[in-house]
Amino acid sequence: RNQTQERDNLYRTGSNILKGTRDKTKRKQAYQLLMKAADLGSTRAMEKIAYALLFGDQLPQNITAAKILYEALAEEGSPRAHTALGFIHATGTGVYPNQAKALVYYTFAAIGGNHVAQMILSYRYSAGISIPHNCEAALIQYRNVAKHVANKLTFAGGILGGKVRLTERHENPYSSDGVLDLDLYQYSKFLAEKGEVQAQVTLGQLHLVGGRGLEQDPYKAFYYFSKAVKAGSTYALAFLGKMYSEGSEAVPQDNETAFKYFKMAADRGNPLGLNDLGLAYLHGKGVPVSYTVAFQYFQKAAEKKWIDAQYQLGLMHYYGLGVRQDYALAYKYFHLASQSGHVLAFYQLAHMYATGTRVARSCHTAVELYKNVCEQGSWSEKFLSAYFAFREGDIDSSLLQYMLLSEMGYEVAQSNAAFILESKQSTIVRENQTYPLAQLLWIRAANQGNLFYTVIIIKYPSPYYTWYTKNLYSTHILCSGKQANKIHGLGEVRLIAYYWEQGFIVSLDVHLAKRFYDMALQSSQEAYAPVLLALAKLEVVHFFSEIQRASFTLVWQHRILNMFRFYWDLLVIALLTVFLLVLIAYRPT
Ligand SMILES: *[C@@H]1O[C@H](CO)[C@@H](O)[C@H](O)[C@H]1NC(C)=O
Ligand SMILES: *[C@@H]1O[C@H](CO)[C@@H](O)[C@H](O)[C@H]1NC(C)=O
Ligand SMILES: *[C@@H]1O[C@H](CO)[C@@H](O)[C@H](O)[C@H]1NC(C)=O
Repeated sequence: RNQTQERDNLYRTGSNILKGTRDKTKRKQAYQLLMKAADLGSTRAMEKIAYALLFGDQLPQNITAAKILYEALAEEGSPRAHTALGFIHATGTGVYPNQAKALVYYTFAAIGGNHVAQMILSYRYSAGISIPHNCEAALIQYRNVAKHVANKLTFAGGILGGKVRLTERHENPYSSDGVLDLDLYQYSKFLAEKGEVQAQVTLGQLHLVGGRGLEQDPYKAFYYFSKAVKAGSTYALAFLGKMYSEGSEAVPQDNETAFKYFKMAADRGNPLGLNDLGLAYLHGKGVPVSYTVAFQYFQKAAEKKWIDAQYQLGLMHYYGLGVRQDYALAYKYFHLASQSGHVLAFYQLAHMYATGTRVARSCHTAVELYKNVCEQGSWSEKFLSAYFAFREGDIDSSLLQYMLLSEMGYEVAQSNAAFILESKQSTIVRENQTYPLAQLLWIRAANQGNLFYTVIIIKYPSPYYTWYTKNLYSTHILCSGKQANKIHGLGEVRLIAYYWEQGFIVSLDVHLAKRFYDMALQSSQEAYAPVLLALAKLEVVHFFSEIQRASFTLVWQHRILNMFRFYWDLLVIALLTVFLLVLIAYRPT
């Protein structure tokens, strides 16, 4: 028994350290503890070590060793090990890619309750990746994961920042990348100490929830909020109330004190204070429950455009708390809150679409919304560790983490992984697998609606397109061409148009390419300018190819067309003017 206790203690200490810090020395020590726990037979410690070996966290990355360890764990039925083995086989990490095997592992893991595997399966079902598209199956899995995520969300906005796009970082090194720079942090600290209220509140908030690469620290949060309260900030009052309401190492849980602070903030018209006071009345924290009073406070906060209050109003209408049950109004408020990115509002809307409450049932919409919720799960923190690994030059570790997130359906991760692959800095992916994998990831990202990358694909063809299309995609694209009217993915549509235009596929068919572009045009407003340019270019190509063909076959047209040819520069100038006008009309403001 003593041994069991020691083992569990070692595991707990180790994993708590890992959860709390990014400091390298401390993490290394944590892994030492976990190794000891693993020696005493702790399965969970072994899972953590295997993860560190696979993704390269402080232990030297060794995919072979990770695979051996995961296989042993899978024998014991560990869902995490099943997920990892699924990932290894799906991506061909250290093995030859095998989608059938991957699917078996993922399915086992999903049945075992692993949320990561459930998300991967949902994404595969909804995008039809190596299994037939099945919206209902995707819905079941996504709903399961979303429920778990929604229950765990401590604050409604979801996780702060952190999903850095490598491509944009590359193009504009001066743009803020969502991760708080150390210099920026020092500067905010300097401002806060000098008495800048806004900086005090911001720092307090960052320390309260932890995020953007900062560690959670209730003492510092309390320190900054107290400073800001003295300087007269009503937001800081409300945040102090929140700290008392939740309780932490720094302040004891105390409903009455919390209520006092909320009331002070609310009396001065602060929307956060109004909303929190509403919550206090709703849950009876520090006051007796009163739905009517709660409703009034939410309304006041919502009038000041406080997003969470909009969501709370939606809930009260949905369940008929303090008001008559009204799904139409509930929908209205959820929709309003969701437009500002309120994750729980997405969750409620997804439920309404999945069950057809007040709206026409739509599996597709419900899946999209649930996916949004699932992407806020704690696993999205991997974006940060992947980004830090990338910044520190640990490319293989970064790539694998982005690839795991890509499997889970994160569009940003797909783009980032493709970006790293194309940079050819990774050593884990075989030479002849690099471009096909990158291409696959671009397509998946583009199909999720990232127009930017489709433009890259169309505008900057890399040398590998030629062999790539010939080897892999020609049959696929021919099939898609036959079902042209059934294609939904904008990315694929435009890619096909590009291939056709370049004549990679069987024969050049300008009309078909034009039809694809037209479809792309109809399916998205944003696509307007780039597609219009591509279309215009196509028209020119078309025009000259027609001229050529005509001049060979029909002698009587020859002369007229020659005249056209004579004035072709005028034609091009006219077209260019149109381009310019379009560009000016649609230039980003
Ligand atoms: C990786 O692990 C395997 C199996 O444990 C071992 O044989 C191999 O030497 C390790 N490779 C490196 C580079 O440490
Ligand atoms: C505060 O209120 C909540 C909700 O009513 C209750 O569960 C909790 O026990 C209260 N805390 C204290 C310290 O009374
Ligand atoms: C890629 O290269 C490996 C080893 O060089 C080889 O075994 C494999 O067949 C190649 N795959 C393709 C698709 O050419």
